Amino acid sequence: MAGLAVNVDHVSTLREARKVSYPDPVAAAVLAELAGADGIVVHLREDRRHIQDRDVRILRKIVQTKLILEMAATPEMVGIALDIKPDLVTLVPEKREELTTEGGLDLIVHKNSIAETIGTLQNSGIPVSIFIDPAPEQIKVAHQINSTMVEIHTGAFCDATTAKKKEQTFIDILNGVKLAHKLKLGINAGHGICYKTIKAFKGLNEINEFSIGHSIVSRAVLVGMKAAVREMLTLVKEI
Ligand code: PXP
Repeated sequence: MAGLAVNVDHVSTLREARKVSYPDPVAAAVLAELAGADGIVVHLREDRRHIQDRDVRILRKIVQTKLILEMAATPEMVGIALDIKPDLVTLVPEKREELTTEGGLDLIVHKNSIAETIGTLQNSGIPVSIFIDPAPEQIKVAHQINSTMVEIHTGAFCDATTAKKKEQTFIDILNGVKLAHKLKLGINAGHGICYKTIKAFKGLNEINEFSIGHSIVSRAVLVGMKAAVREMLTLVKEI
């Protein structure tokens, strides 16, 4: 049965909009866990636009399930990860001007530096996932450089606005998942998944865990964090 890792970044987005101390992503993480989340995800960005160092440090102490740190493969972030020791690091590309993570890591271009980062983190006992597009060449490199697992970028499918594009992008995900499974890579999936698009993944049992943030936090604003997580969990557990 697939798991649900809840990303609480956008609770911090709301807090940082006013530079106050609420709402606290730590409180949201506790509620998400009480509702049954299998893990808590935060992306500590270089510009600290939402999650702050303090959030990650407190979450490390209080998360009962597992703490997944999304980060760019920079010396600063690697230093923080080695210090905090999350249960999993997910390496993502990062550009300051982007609204959100816009594409998967390009392992063809960054193969050597990502391989080095994976080695450093794994040698310190931290498993590593790499956020990549579901392209066969990316998945093959992830395997070659010994990534513990991959997170398949589901954004192109979730954001597709025509039936043709939806079908085509979902076929890419299907093929990517099958290849990663064949190569014995652990498989997570995420980005842009909402209460509607999650249903498309029914039957794709190779996916270990879905990483979902924006849609859950958006719904939580209206129905509360526990209800929003529970509703998504019901859909994920049907996969
Ligand atoms: N996975 C990765 C690697 C991400 O960068 C993000 C966005 O922070 C997510 C999953 C969650 O995406 P969303 O907030 O659209 O659910």
